[in-house]
Amino acid sequence: MSSEEALSSTITDWLFINSWWLLLPFIMLLVVAAFIVAFVLLLYMISPLISPKPLKLNGAHVVVTGGSSGIGKCIAIECYRQGAFITLVARDEAKLLQAKKEVEKFAINDKQVVLCISVDVSSDYSQVESVIKQAQEKLGPVDMLVNCAGTSISGKFEEVEVDRFKKLMEVNYLGSVYPTRAVITTMKERRMGRIMFVSSQAGQIGLFGYTAYSPSKFALRGLAESLQMEIKPYNIYVTVAYPPDTDTPGLAEENKTKPLETKLISETSGVCQPDQVAKIIVRDAVQGNFNSSVGPDGYMLSALTCGMSPVTSITEGLQQIVTMGLFRTIALFYLGSFDSIVRRCMIQREQSKAADKRE
Ligand SMILES: NC(=O)c1ccc[n+]([C@@H]2O[C@H](COP(=O)([O-])OP(=O)(O)OC[C@H]3O[C@@H](n4cnc5c(N)ncnc54)[C@H](OP(=O)(O)O)[C@@H]3O)[C@@H](O)[C@H]2O)c1
Repeated sequence: MSSEEALSSTITDWLFINSWWLLLPFIMLLVVAAFIVAFVLLLYMISPLISPKPLKLNGAHVVVTGGSSGIGKCIAIECYRQGAFITLVARDEAKLLQAKKEVEKFAINDKQVVLCISVDVSSDYSQVESVIKQAQEKLGPVDMLVNCAGTSISGKFEEVEVDRFKKLMEVNYLGSVYPTRAVITTMKERRMGRIMFVSSQAGQIGLFGYTAYSPSKFALRGLAESLQMEIKPYNIYVTVAYPPDTDTPGLAEENKTKPLETKLISETSGVCQPDQVAKIIVRDAVQGNFNSSVGPDGYMLSALTCGMSPVTSITEGLQQIVTMGLFRTIALFYLGSFDSIVRRCMIQREQSKAADKRE
């Protein structure tokens, strides 16, 4: 070997021995990535251990307020077809009896019972307490309470009659507080139960036309978060459902007075079927999930508005952490398009007013 070759070989050896330091950052990056992947996998694996045990609906007593129509009736059917005993609560007795007949068609055994109770859930707590007592005497302690009784109106803030603001808070908010208050002590004694509040996507975002409705649905979220912290040690889980527009008699009634802006904004997402919504809500309540949303829009809204709300699985928490920024970006585009709908409607109205004056 010539002296030149020897020198070159020495340099190559030196480089080989010393250049692995250059790879050190990559090796460290790989190790960190491997740790993160292993950590996330571990979280996914232990997630079911931390999540609540699913409630068995077979043989359970489920009380559904607003169970005579729309989403509430479909929730009652979904629970009944899984073997539950049902108490339907609403005001109109004829509608209740009709709903009872419809629910009974889905029996899976001949022991199942559907009980009907006519009461206004929003007016007098002692009345609500007494009918819940009656229901518990007949069908046993309540395992799951579904607070679905509710009503909606839409209209421009200054055009909504002042007493409607009070009425909506009474029906949508107090109408959920009273039945919940009436079942909670027994649930705590039994150290088990599920409480469901049927809010709305309008309980996650304030939209044009919902100045009376939205606050009554936002209020349920505050109630649910505070209550969940109190009753979690008693193995009682709260679910807040945020349905999108759903094809029910309630929606048909609301559509009669919807301002054009509200209609156009609502049209950006479709209308769901109540049985489809009910299936998702019941599944989430059975699993003890705090949030229950429908469809991709609902998923995005729930992740965006999770704030300090409880998580019922690590998977859910991880998804929220990862998706928050992206969803906020998408939401800004939605907000921009809603603002532009409102502006266009205003300009059109002003132009047609001006044209009317000229004529
Ligand atoms: N449909 C939608 O697009 C939609 C979307 C998001 C959220 N939601 C919410 O989902 C729930 C059900 O809506 P829906 O569209 O299915 O309504 P719906 O078809 O009008 O049914 C409402 C039910 O609530 C009962 N109810 C109303 N006020 C009551 C009161 N003071 N006391 C006892 N029962 C009362 C009604 O029976 P009586 O009138 O006989 O009492 C009926 O059984 C509501 O809370 C609503 O805000 C609906």
